Amino acid sequence: MTTPIYQTSTFAHDGLGGDRGYSYARVSNPTRTALETCLASLEGAAHGLAFASGMAAVDTVVRQLDPGDHILVNADGYGGTHRLLTQVHQASFSPVDLADLDAVAAAWTDRTRLLWVESPTNPGLGVVDIAALAAMARERGAWCAVDNTFATPWLQRPLELGAHLVVHSTSKYLGGHSDVIGGFVATDDDALAAALTLVRNAAGSVPGPFDTFLVLRGVKTLAVRMDRHCSNALAVAAFLRSHPAMAQVRYPGLADDPGHALAARQMHGGFGGMVACVLHGGEEAAAAFVARTRLFTLGESLGGVESLIGYPARMSHASLAGTPLAADPGLVRLSVGIEDVDDLLEDLAQALG
Ligand SMILES: Cc1ncc(COP(=O)(O)O)c(C=O)c1O
Repeated sequence: MTTPIYQTSTFAHDGLGGDRGYSYARVSNPTRTALETCLASLEGAAHGLAFASGMAAVDTVVRQLDPGDHILVNADGYGGTHRLLTQVHQASFSPVDLADLDAVAAAWTDRTRLLWVESPTNPGLGVVDIAALAAMARERGAWCAVDNTFATPWLQRPLELGAHLVVHSTSKYLGGHSDVIGGFVATDDDALAAALTLVRNAAGSVPGPFDTFLVLRGVKTLAVRMDRHCSNALAVAAFLRSHPAMAQVRYPGLADDPGHALAARQMHGGFGGMVACVLHGGEEAAAAFVARTRLFTLGESLGGVESLIGYPARMSHASLAGTPLAADPGLVRLSVGIEDVDDLLEDLAQALG
């Protein structure tokens, strides 16, 4: 019933030229193959590649570009992706509000080859039109890659919306238990899959067999976990929205959220487990709030069964401090877990005072 952990670096050959499909574990490993087959099928993709981390997956996609190629990314997006583009690749890229298609068209250059999309965005929970952006990229001969970490394929399947590539941090909902770091890329494009495979094998950004096993095990409960994450997050967002301490609450599942109509079109079965809020009283009030929760643990990351609370300006997006992409200093991000919803609401109520 369970895929074995092939804890081996190499494989015996039957003879010269007879490696039975597996030669060396940087190239491939049966546990990893099982995970790749599973996640590719969830995304409806022809090809899937597992990586050592979400950032290794992002990096391998970015390495497909030539020097001087230009990238368009969400202005509100994961800080680690921006750090990779600026501090490691020194890439030519423009952060844009991808919800504004005119702004995207205006920012497009002759060298734009990659449109990097998050929806919902991290940390602001903005929603962008994946189908429209993917169509724009296709018309102009660029790739559209969607970081689907927040939604997971249970709620959103970007390839069906026209994207060329789907990227995941499997450290989040796919693993689901805050006990593994991993990444994944899916695509239908044979040539792109071969090029990604070459870079991954040459550079060695592969996950180990135990980590791939953990993600495989996590995926077995993805559907039930996501359903609970979604219903708990909706209740948390509605509670926060009604609380006088809150200046703003963003959750695509709230009927009056600016992203709700679009999210209802491109997501199915729910709106995810992430909620963003801004407190009256800005930075000081936000810092006091995150210090007082007890069931929501103050910590980096998201997507595990236990609820987490984070303060992006000083945590996940701290590397962007002092730049135009810095997170709103009043913003608090909640990763709503699968605990009893009344316990979660009680914790938030006591923390807000
Ligand atoms: C949306 C998103 N993409 C990518 C990553 C990077 O993933 P990893 O931490 O597995 O390298 C993260 C991590 O927080 C993320 O939130």
